Amino acid sequence: MKIVVLGAGYVGLTTGACLAELGHHLTCCDIDHARVAALRQAEIPIYEPGLAELVSAQMTAGRLEFSANAEDAVRSADAVFLAVGTPSDQGGGIDLSFVMAAAAGIAPHLRKQAVLIVKSTVVAGTAQQIKALVDKTRGNSDIPVGSNPEFLREGSAIGDFMHADRIVIGADDPRTEAVLREIYKPLVRTGIPLVSTRTVNAELIKYAANALLALKIGFINDVADLCEAVGGDVTAVADGIGRDSRIGPGFLAAGPGFGGSCFPKDTRAFASTGRQHGAPQPLIEALIDGNDRRKRSLAQRIIDATPDGGRVAILGTSFKANTDDVREAASLTIVPALLAAGLDVHAHDPQPGAAKRLLDGISWHETPIGAVRSADVTVILTEWDEYRSLEPNRLAAAMRGRTVLDFRNVLAGEKVASAGLHYHSLGRPSVVPKRAARGQGTPAGLTIAASPA
Ligand code: UDX
Repeated sequence: MKIVVLGAGYVGLTTGACLAELGHHLTCCDIDHARVAALRQAEIPIYEPGLAELVSAQMTAGRLEFSANAEDAVRSADAVFLAVGTPSDQGGGIDLSFVMAAAAGIAPHLRKQAVLIVKSTVVAGTAQQIKALVDKTRGNSDIPVGSNPEFLREGSAIGDFMHADRIVIGADDPRTEAVLREIYKPLVRTGIPLVSTRTVNAELIKYAANALLALKIGFINDVADLCEAVGGDVTAVADGIGRDSRIGPGFLAAGPGFGGSCFPKDTRAFASTGRQHGAPQPLIEALIDGNDRRKRSLAQRIIDATPDGGRVAILGTSFKANTDDVREAASLTIVPALLAAGLDVHAHDPQPGAAKRLLDGISWHETPIGAVRSADVTVILTEWDEYRSLEPNRLAAAMRGRTVLDFRNVLAGEKVASAGLHYHSLGRPSVVPKRAARGQGTPAGLTIAASPA
C-alpha cells in the first residue's frame, strides 16, 4: 500500500519505518524542512534504539522516503496517517490545532479512494471532528476518517510496534476498517490480536489504557510510602500482588513519579474530557495531584538529607532509562527545588542533550563518578543500566558525604552499606553500615517515610 505519514516526530517516524518494514511504501512528511533534509541523509533527530538502522535499511530498500511537500505526497496515497503533535492546552486538555491544520492542508489533495487515519493521541470524538472538517474542505463526504492509536514506549518503540499486545483500529465505515486490516495484515499473521471498534472507542482505549497504567504506578508509589512507614518492602509487595494474573507484574516499580510525553499529558486530558462532559474522573484527578506532590516531596527529602549549601549528585535526568527525553521528568521538578534551597547540584545522564538545555545552574559531568565526586548526597533518579552497575566502593571513595538516595531501587542496599554508605531507597528498609559512626552519613532527623508536601 502507498501510505503517507504526516509528522516525522517520534510517533510518525517510528510508525513510518515500521510500516515500511511490513512491506508498504511510505512517505513521511514534515513541515520542518531542515528535519526532512536531515532524514534524507538518514540522520534521526531523536534517540530511539534501533530506529536509525531501521530507517536507513528501509530507505535503501526503496520503501521509505521523506518529503516536506505533504500536498504532493498525499495525491497518490491509499492511506494518510496523522501523527503530528497534540500538546496540552492551558486547561489540561489537548491542543488540536496542529492535527486540524494538517488535515485541512491535505484534504483537497486526497484521491477519493484514500482514507485518513488519526495516529496522534486525541480526545474522544476527534476523528469525527476531523471528518467534519475534511468534508467541509472538500465539499463532499468521500473521505472516511479512522483512528489507530499507538502504544509505543520510548526506548522500545520498534519492539512495541512489531510485537504489540494488540492493534486497535477504529473505523466508522467498512472501507476504513478494510484498509486498516490490510495495512496490519503482516502483523496479524504473526498472531497479534486486532481489536476493531468505532473511532470513539479507539480514542477512549488509548486514554483509558494510559490512565490505568499510570494509576498502577501511582498506587505502587503510595504503597511504597506505606511500606516505609510500617517497615515493609515494596519490591516484595509488588512481586506478591503482580503474580495475581488479574493485576499483572508490569508498572509496579516504585519511583519518583511518572513523567514523559504521554502519561502526564494523557491523564490531564482524560480528566479534562471527563470534566467537560460532566463525567468527572476523580481517581485520575487524585492521581495527577499525587504524582506532582510526590516529585516535590522527594525534592524535600533530598534537601533534608543534605547539609546547608551542600553538594548533591543527580544521576539521571531523563524521565526514564534509554531515552534522552526529559519532558515532565522528575528532574525538572527536583533540580530547581534543590537550587532554590541553595544546594550545589552536579548531574550526569548518558543522554543529557535535552536536559542540558532545560536545566540551568547545574554542573554536568561526563561520567557518573565525575558527578558524585565530593558529593554529600548521591541521588539516583533514572534507572539507566550504567547506574545499576555502579561499584559501591568507587562511589564511597569519590563521595564526601555518605548518603545515597536511590529513587529507582536499582542498587543492592547491603552492598552499598558494606562500602560504608547509608542507603535509602523507596519503600524498602534503609541499610546503613554495621559500624556507622554516630553523626556521620545521613543527618539525624532524615525521615525515610515520605514527607507530606
Ligand atoms: C507510555 C506508554 O507506556 C505507551 O503505551 C504510550 O504510548 C506512551 O506513554 P512512555 O512514556 O515511553 O510510554 O514510558 P513508560 O515506559 O510507559 O513510562 C512512563 C513513566 O512511568 C516513566 O516516567 C517511568 O519511569 C514511570 N514508571 C513506569 C514507573 O515509575 N514505574 C513503573 O513501574 C513503570
